[in-house]
Amino acid sequence: MLTRRNFLAIAAAAAIGLPAGCAGEKDEAPAAVPAAEPVEDASAADAAPAGNVLVAYFSATGNTAGVAEAIAGRLGADVWEIEAAQPYTDADLNYNDDSSRTSVERADGTNPELAQVTPDGWANYDTVLLGYPIWWGEAAWPLRTFVAGNDFAGKTVVPFCTSASSGIGRSGELLAEAAGAGDWLEGERFSSGSGDEAAEWAVGLGL
Ligand SMILES: Cc1cc2nc3c(=O)[nH]c(=O)nc-3n(C[C@H](O)[C@H](O)[C@H](O)COP(=O)(O)O)c2cc1C
Repeated sequence: MLTRRNFLAIAAAAAIGLPAGCAGEKDEAPAAVPAAEPVEDASAADAAPAGNVLVAYFSATGNTAGVAEAIAGRLGADVWEIEAAQPYTDADLNYNDDSSRTSVERADGTNPELAQVTPDGWANYDTVLLGYPIWWGEAAWPLRTFVAGNDFAGKTVVPFCTSASSGIGRSGELLAEAAGAGDWLEGERFSSGSGDEAAEWAVGLGL
């Protein structure tokens, strides 16, 4: 479990070396980080959720998907993949190219269209673990569309993210503000391939 002190240290470290006005690390090579592997032993017996739990995530290159599947497997929770109506290509994800789709959407504050905004059975879930990659220090843009388009009233929401090195920062708070409803808990950041660690964290939430 990440203590507040460690969290602040990581956040501070992530902030060092960033270009002024840029929350991300343009020079890193996140695409080279291997995708997380789902947990093999997906025993739900040690963490049966009290309510209906949904793990909803967006993932452009598979890292968040691996972590999300590991969490869901351990909790015995349902999984929903947030999909962009137009999937992001490698060129779209080129954060070193100011004219790439992610760069342009960042500059424009675009809420990209989703294949389906509201997960099947949304009203039935009490708790949503919401996963995403960090893009320039924030939640990947499809999350904007997701939180703007869904009603979080009465739900407990726990953000989690994957990144090359940045902490979760204020990404969860910004999503909570945009959602305007729900009980949003402090989230957690994982590196790619941290499925086991993420599953333990999820169990520790005591949902
Ligand atoms: C457009 C873009 C911006 C990114 N910005 C950051 C960043 O600010 N900090 C960071 O640590 N990683 C950053 N990354 C790396 C991703 O957060 C990381 O590779 C993440 O695990 C990808 O998750 P996914 O495979 O589920 O898409 C960025 C990646 C992309 C494509």
